[in-house]
Amino acid sequence: MTKIITDINIAVKEIKKGNAVGIPTETVYGLGANALDKNTVIKIFEAKDRPKFNPLIVHVRSIDCFTKYGKNIPENVYKLADAYSPGPITFIVQKTNVIPDIVTAGNTSIALRIPSHPVLMTLLSESGLPLAAPSANRSGRISPTSAKEVLEELSGKIEYILDGGKCSVGIESTVVTFLENDVKILRHGFITRKDIEKVIGKISNATPEKIISPGQSKNHYAPSTPLYLIESYDIVNSIKNKRIGYLDWQKYKTLKEIALNLFEDLRKLDKNKYDFIVSEKVEESGLGVAINDRLEKACRGRMKMISNELIVIKK
Ligand code: TXA
Ligand code: MG
Repeated sequence: MTKIITDINIAVKEIKKGNAVGIPTETVYGLGANALDKNTVIKIFEAKDRPKFNPLIVHVRSIDCFTKYGKNIPENVYKLADAYSPGPITFIVQKTNVIPDIVTAGNTSIALRIPSHPVLMTLLSESGLPLAAPSANRSGRISPTSAKEVLEELSGKIEYILDGGKCSVGIESTVVTFLENDVKILRHGFITRKDIEKVIGKISNATPEKIISPGQSKNHYAPSTPLYLIESYDIVNSIKNKRIGYLDWQKYKTLKEIALNLFEDLRKLDKNKYDFIVSEKVEESGLGVAINDRLEKACRGRMKMISNELIVIKK
């Protein structure tokens, strides 16, 4: 039976034993295992039912580790790490062969992140190991932001979930690639384009969808109940005989608050057996870009009113 624990020593032992453990990070909960050992990393893919072509982020405790697992690291990585690490930013650089191929799905690049969650920081220092960790949801589903939600996702698949409280960010890290002498955002996250450009100047405008990146599939973060995006809640007001769940952004004051609650709200609505859930998008600027990206990936399509008729346009 899967247990929620608060004793970091138990988690350290479990990681050293070669097992995967549910771990808190400031963004979302992860499913962590010793990144140096291919036989333990495979357990992550199995527990999540994650396709083996989708590479994992390696979590390390300090910038010194970057040169152990990455090489030819550009100056811009150090500048950004100086500004935002430990924190919700992931750097993709060339990989050394210290890290087994299964972690990076055979790619010659590696994703490195220094998380800021104090419990995870202690786990990284006490174990002395780099931790490969994707979000701790079953593949394609909503990322968990509390230990209880990890249990809902992975009960019976792992022995322990280390409880570090509710995540303080609520959505995943910003993934930035530094390959090919060009800086590009592969996944929008808490650290915004503006945050990045403030430190290293203008970066490529290519949208993640146009960049071939493993794991950036169209469908992700999805609830079981169909989610549709709408331009305004008025559109569904006239619908009778359907149970509709609403993602309500009006109740939050800032985009940070929306990011913090997005996955939890979606998960709660998903439990209520609605016929469908609807959501408006948020303003497409700053952190709103990352929030809208999650909504786009989680939804089945759009609902529109055309000539007084409600039309569903599937993705
Ligand atoms: O905030 C986060 O990043 C969380 C916490 C647990 O750290 N982790 C997370 O991991 O969101 P995951 O596996 O759910 O998403 C990692 C993303 C995937 O889209 C993956 O394809 C991409 O990063 N990625 C990892 N390594 C890569 C690489 N070498 N090249 C390109 N994309 C990579
Ligand atoms: Mg994920």
